[in-house]
Amino acid sequence: MLEHAASIIGTAETFVLTAGAGMGVDSGLPDFRGDHGFWRAYPAYARRGLSFVDCANPRHFAHDPSFAWGFYGHRTSLYRDTPPHEGFHIIRKWIERNSAAYFVVTSNVDGQFQKAGYADDRIMEVHGSIHWLQCQQPCSNTIWSNDEVIRIDESTMRARAPLPRCPDCGEVSRPNILMFGDCSWLPDRTRIQGHAFDRFMAKNADRRIVVIEIGAGSAIPTIRATSERIGWGYKHATVIRINPREPEITSPHISVPYGALEGVRQIDALL
Ligand SMILES: NC(=O)c1ccc[n+]([C@@H]2O[C@H](COP(=O)([O-])OP(=O)(O)OC[C@H]3O[C@@H](n4cnc5c(N)ncnc54)[C@H](O)[C@@H]3O)[C@@H](O)[C@H]2O)c1
Ligand SMILES: [Zn+2]
Repeated sequence: MLEHAASIIGTAETFVLTAGAGMGVDSGLPDFRGDHGFWRAYPAYARRGLSFVDCANPRHFAHDPSFAWGFYGHRTSLYRDTPPHEGFHIIRKWIERNSAAYFVVTSNVDGQFQKAGYADDRIMEVHGSIHWLQCQQPCSNTIWSNDEVIRIDESTMRARAPLPRCPDCGEVSRPNILMFGDCSWLPDRTRIQGHAFDRFMAKNADRRIVVIEIGAGSAIPTIRATSERIGWGYKHATVIRINPREPEITSPHISVPYGALEGVRQIDALL
């Protein structure tokens, strides 16, 4: 299985990297699967019995903005301060060695691919990014870069004033992330990235494509569906699914039942 994955990667002309929250786990970032995963990362919410779905709700920005920015401000700092693990760099080396084209499609909002040196115009962030802000109403379609420093009281997970605000109307702003039950998310940035990805796929349709999917869960299956759509829809495409807990995929696609870093290192050793 690892030899097969290495031989597909060694001869690939086009790389599509598809990644979910599991990609960040080996950098020390939490995935939020099950309340216990979330509560291990955030004991302050465990004490109040609040789940990820409870916290990732846009209405908090209107009703209790210091709670809302406590959660998102903490994650902003965590994602800014965490260096991406070596697996990101090993894959970039594979792409460079093959002089291959690449595109990243991720449900992660953490900006870790950009931090690892992947080009911003080669990334589609299907659920948006924590590093971009919008008005919570929203009063316009404007999205701006998140340069805020948000101070949090970690015992209560509440953000201290002043909170980030919309420069146009003065309302509290929010990350440009698709939350649960979210009718206010502005999708323009993701939509533009999606058009770039469509053009990329049209241009690379006849080439030898490898889709390397890492850490994408089945609970919200957007990323897994994207990998499979490419794997079954393009003549010369193979999906390599790296996931320690739910790696299953139908042959001829390849299932690698390891964590991100270990899986990538094992394949690298065979290249
Ligand atoms: N870093 C982030 O940006 C972040 C973090 C948590 C959640 N989210 C959001 O929550 C949603 C969660 O869905 P999801 O499918 O991305 O994640 P998920 O939490 O549903 O699933 C995580 C997957 O990663 C796998 N995994 C666990 N440890 C791993 C490791 N070391 N290496 C590789 N894989 C590992 C698990 O088996 C699981 O399949 C996403 O839509 C995302 O927007 C984002
Ligand atoms: Zn506004």
